[in-house]
Amino acid sequence: FGVEVFTDNSQMVMQCDVVVLAVKPQILLSVCKQIKVHIRHRPLLISIAAGVRSHDINHWLGGGVSIVRAMPNTPALVGKGAAGMVANDAVSDKQKTLAEQILVSVGECLWVKEETMLDAVTALSGSGPAYFFLMIESMTNAGVALGLDKQIAEKLSIQTALGASTMSKQSTDSARELRAKVTSKNGTTQVAIESFQEQNFDIIISHAMRAAFERAREIGFELSDNAE
Ligand SMILES: NC(=O)c1ccc[n+]([C@@H]2O[C@H](COP(=O)([O-])OP(=O)(O)OC[C@H]3O[C@@H](n4cnc5c(N)ncnc54)[C@H](OP(=O)(O)O)[C@@H]3O)[C@@H](O)[C@H]2O)c1
Repeated sequence: FGVEVFTDNSQMVMQCDVVVLAVKPQILLSVCKQIKVHIRHRPLLISIAAGVRSHDINHWLGGGVSIVRAMPNTPALVGKGAAGMVANDAVSDKQKTLAEQILVSVGECLWVKEETMLDAVTALSGSGPAYFFLMIESMTNAGVALGLDKQIAEKLSIQTALGASTMSKQSTDSARELRAKVTSKNGTTQVAIESFQEQNFDIIISHAMRAAFERAREIGFELSDNAE
């Protein structure tokens, strides 16, 4: 790929216009200490470290640093990621475009206005792939309970998730409208949806995401408190 590799972070950052910080949150401080004196040429720093705030990264790097914080998700591995991003005041329009070009290469990315919103992004798209994996798992198990072979139930569940997601993305109809279109009166889908609703499906999802949101905030506070 014509990629130059380094074993020394400080030597590497001196040659970069953009540095992506993609290490575990717990070791980000030590990496910032290593590169601090080598970023006088003011590269853009893109951090994907969960929970670590721009304010702390900026402080560790000596201040005045252009920082974009991004919260990507694992479907980035197959080019279908969804990332929320936020820029600090030092980031120029050109650097914003650069950050977008990098993140778009593995999926979609959307800017949020406030850094605190990244905790909501974490609860939605950051942790979200696991919610859909859980749905696939549950639908597979339910299919098996109804007599299907596991392999068949699993393939049908996965393809149904993909089909629904693709339709939802391509259609101008909202998810609610698409659902209404496939729900015939007194049909099979209607009884299933009513069963979900009787058991407060909306509330189950909302509680789960609230828990993820609170945990993301807590982790942010913990990392900030333990930073120095
Ligand atoms: N996975 C996700 O969906 C997701 C979503 C959002 C955010 N994040 C964030 O992404 C970051 C990385 O997560 P991960 O699960 O990919 O972690 P990981 O598998 O541990 O990868 C960390 C990478 O950092 C390298 N590394 C470790 N110490 C380093 C150092 N001192 N200098 C330079 N490179 C170093 C490691 O290289 P070696 O393997 O060679 O040691 C490895 O390639 C985390 O901050 C996480 O919070 C992940």
